[in-house]
Amino acid sequence: MNNHTPPFDSSAFRRALGMFATGVTIVTARAGDGTPVGMTANSFNSVSLDPPMVLWSLAKSARSLPVFHAAEHWNVHILANEQNDLANRFARAGEDKFAGLSLEPALADAPFLAGCSARFQCRTVFRYEGGDHIIFVGEVVGFDRSEMAPLLYVSGEYALATRLASPIATEVTGAADASAEPAPFTEQLLGYLLGRAHYQFMWGFRRTLDELGISHGEFFVLSLLAVRAALDADQITAHTAYTGIAADTALLSAMRARGLLSASADPAPRYALSPAGHAASRRVLAAAHAVEAALVEQLGGREAAGLRNLLKHLIRASDPGLPTLWGASA
Ligand SMILES: Cc1cc2nc3c(=O)[nH]c(=O)nc-3n(C[C@H](O)[C@H](O)[C@H](O)COP(=O)(O)O)c2cc1C
Repeated sequence: MNNHTPPFDSSAFRRALGMFATGVTIVTARAGDGTPVGMTANSFNSVSLDPPMVLWSLAKSARSLPVFHAAEHWNVHILANEQNDLANRFARAGEDKFAGLSLEPALADAPFLAGCSARFQCRTVFRYEGGDHIIFVGEVVGFDRSEMAPLLYVSGEYALATRLASPIATEVTGAADASAEPAPFTEQLLGYLLGRAHYQFMWGFRRTLDELGISHGEFFVLSLLAVRAALDADQITAHTAYTGIAADTALLSAMRARGLLSASADPAPRYALSPAGHAASRRVLAAAHAVEAALVEQLGGREAAGLRNLLKHLIRASDPGLPTLWGASA
């Protein structure tokens, strides 16, 4: 019989714990000499509603341990999704974590940070030994919240919270046949979802494009030249070819003839928006912004932030090597 227990794999334990998604907090207190301390903690949790109590746990190795041990009050800041830099700052040892931060007045002396999703002002009521951590239980003496979407932490990485979407209404085209091949075209197909979302979005401001008599290709050129001044035809093509729409010299000449573009002298003219082109671009952008604002209103700010984040990932992952649109010279 083998009585040996397998050696405990603490990094596997950490990775398993990392599957429990949490928010991210900064917990702060003030030393007797007035020095502020604070640290990033995701061990925060609710304990009791009546009386209101919360907990978090602090590593015995933390430099701030003696201060939290002695402090009667501490504040828990639930970080907003734009505060990941602050989370990193308060997770690092050896720097002035509070440098440049403006603090807000609080009920007690613990530092009170701004711009968070929620804040709990607490008074220590219990402290428990918890292995290599100390568990602090606090009575909540004050709290507030904002509409800022919270920052999450899962599998060792920061993340955003988005609601699970309900299925898109689809037509049922007959009884399911268990022996049939899985349908090649389903609601889960990323290409379908992206394409449909794109065209439904465009639908909302297509009327403005039609009113201005602006084609799809011209719309791309207008949008490009609204952020990049004076490009030649090759540069414009390099930016727009991925759309499958040829922004060739014929299209550019036609836009010039209609007064939407101005061009420098041949042989390699550089195109820019004319005053009329700028006006058209502003009208289209205003219509697109209105569609976006209505959608964000429906989706909610949190979903919109999550969607922007995912789309940026997708654009980075699928980039065939396009020139940089913003912040680069021609
Ligand atoms: C997302 C995240 C969550 C963390 N959660 C905790 C925690 O709950 N308890 C803890 O003791 N340390 C936690 N840490 C580590 C501390 O933030 C880090 O050790 C910090 O430097 C301690 O500060 P101090 O040594 O100045 O007290 C976490 C770090 C990160 C990035």
